[in-house]
Amino acid sequence: MEGLALQPTAHEPRIVLVTGASRGIGAEVARQLSDPGTHVVINYREKRKRAISVVDDIRRRGGHASAVQADLTDTAAVASMIAGIASQFGRLDALALNASGGLERGADPSYAIRLNRDAQLNLTHSALPLMTTGARIVFITSHQAHFYPEKPVPDDYVPIAQSKRAGENALRDLQPRLSQHGVGLAVVSSDMIDGTIIIRLLERRDPASVAARRAHAPLPTVEEFAAAIVTAINSSDQNGRTTYVGGADYRTATAQIGQV
Ligand SMILES: NC(=O)c1ccc[n+]([C@@H]2O[C@H](COP(=O)([O-])OP(=O)(O)OC[C@H]3O[C@@H](n4cnc5c(N)ncnc54)[C@H](OP(=O)(O)O)[C@@H]3O)[C@@H](O)[C@H]2O)c1
Repeated sequence: MEGLALQPTAHEPRIVLVTGASRGIGAEVARQLSDPGTHVVINYREKRKRAISVVDDIRRRGGHASAVQADLTDTAAVASMIAGIASQFGRLDALALNASGGLERGADPSYAIRLNRDAQLNLTHSALPLMTTGARIVFITSHQAHFYPEKPVPDDYVPIAQSKRAGENALRDLQPRLSQHGVGLAVVSSDMIDGTIIIRLLERRDPASVAARRAHAPLPTVEEFAAAIVTAINSSDQNGRTTYVGGADYRTATAQIGQV
């Protein structure tokens, strides 16, 4: 595990793993978790410099962090990441399942389901032995995926929506087992987020779909979405709950979908 050694604190710090925290929403979640009583483990796939700069930001804010490289579709890399957390901290208090993909240029057709469903499940199973009563898992998703297939999405986004929805379903199916361990599961879903890479890709491929979302209301910001995710990580009463950010028309039309 890279980054700077855990600083001694009066109490045992809370250990939070945020996947895909080298940039975008995951990086902002990690920064908002900056706190002397929390150690944030920044997972990334390849953008090491960015991950280290998030670690530095957290330390500047008085928090603790380290960075760990692991492609979540690589089961050996995930096992090694979890083994590192086990040997350094002995436990995991919260897991934010943020990393996601499938729109990357050249990605093979099975990549979206391998990352957005299979890898989320594999990481959850691997992390569970380190999680004890009161720990929580937060799955991060988009309205376009959460409400799929009830609401149409741009053609290019179908594999992402399908695979992220499949990931959410699989985690919800696992909820009885998580509850046996005393581990809560919460979902945080957002409309398209302004200024992100995903919006830029969608705007290039299907400008009408983004314009249609903007026509309803200003799109949520990275900071607003991250704040809702941090609230879910910090709250003990969100087990089984879905928090919605932006896109009020999505919510009112299909408010019951995905609730457990
Ligand atoms: N952007 C939006 O408009 C929007 C809206 C609603 C919900 N969301 C959700 O918010 C989450 C984050 O989205 P984002 O826009 O911030 O994404 P992003 O900017 O594309 O960042 C993706 C992050 O995931 C990491 N990652 C990608 N593939 C990985 C893999 N195989 N293994 C480990 N890490 C991997 C990347 O690491 P590297 O930097 O090392 O490549 C990066 O840190 C996703 O779950 C997404 O569905 C996004």
